Amino acid sequence: MIEQEIDFENRIVSPEYSTHDDDTELSLRPKTLDDYIGQDKAKDNLSIYIKAAKQRNESLDHVLLYGPPGLGKTTLSGIIAREMGVNLRVTSGPAIEKQGDLVAILTSLNEGDVLFIDEIHRLSRNVEEILYPAMEDFSLDIILGKGPSARSIRLDVPHFTLVGATTRSGQLTAPLRDRFGVLLRLELYTPEQLGQIVKRSAGILGIPIDDEGALEIASRSRGTPRIANRLLKRVRDIAEIEFNGTIDVNVAQSALARFEIDELGLDDFDRKMLSAIINHYGGGPVGLDTLAAAVGEEAITIEDVYEPYLMQIGFLTRTPRGRCVTQSAYEHLGIKNNNSQQSLL
Ligand code: ADE
Repeated sequence: MIEQEIDFENRIVSPEYSTHDDDTELSLRPKTLDDYIGQDKAKDNLSIYIKAAKQRNESLDHVLLYGPPGLGKTTLSGIIAREMGVNLRVTSGPAIEKQGDLVAILTSLNEGDVLFIDEIHRLSRNVEEILYPAMEDFSLDIILGKGPSARSIRLDVPHFTLVGATTRSGQLTAPLRDRFGVLLRLELYTPEQLGQIVKRSAGILGIPIDDEGALEIASRSRGTPRIANRLLKRVRDIAEIEFNGTIDVNVAQSALARFEIDELGLDDFDRKMLSAIINHYGGGPVGLDTLAAAVGEEAITIEDVYEPYLMQIGFLTRTPRGRCVTQSAYEHLGIKNNNSQQSLL
């Protein structure tokens, strides 16, 4: 293992919820589609489907949201419920352990309600089996008793909308995926969109910030609103204690340098991972499992959490033979690429 002392749970640029987050996270979530910045494609489609369902007085078709963590899947499910004028129930794949847990949730819903299941790819197979007829016919097939005396009864449930969220649509079973009428892919945000989100959040929290300060935080937030809002709050602390309280570009740069987050939002772990591929595997290709063992992190976390951003900024490519570091990553890290065509000339 190359590095052991990194505290992943406390990584300030982790897109997952972490100990850095507090209740203000909730107050920053937009409540309507109009307030929701970015994800224009998903938003436009959703807006049409919501209007059409409301016009027909029907519940919205089941929606699958997929994409990297921290992009606002839970937020969007809240917006869907609000725009449809119904209640939202929030749960997650790992939280629903038994068929009975899901039956209890489904039978307690009201007509039209939105049921949000986060990490839906982690539902167990037998829980999933309850979900199929519920999604398709709004009915449950429940087996009572065991052995020869077992009986099956059919129970109706209200017409609900399932909003499923996953970081990996490929891991969903085909029968589950096929039962979603609306599939929406969420993309990493651009720095400009994140800049708008930072300004909006600063407005809600009463933090003085100028456009350049917001853009500086945004550019280092890995395309992820959850990270941008977290960095905003930490930069505010430094602005208040060491400067005059207002976040401008100098304050933002000075604070972010202290957090060891570079101009592109890379932290220690990103740099270690890229350096490991360069120094131990000649820049790649290196298999995901080999890389995971080398840097001491789970393969699935590398794939879902670290790689999307590194690929988006063009530092890493996934090839059939493994991961490869690009020339731009060598340049960013200040490492000479001995394999590059330039040096072969
Ligand atoms: N806060 C978090 N995500 C947001 C988004 N997409 N738009 C506005 N504010 C946000």
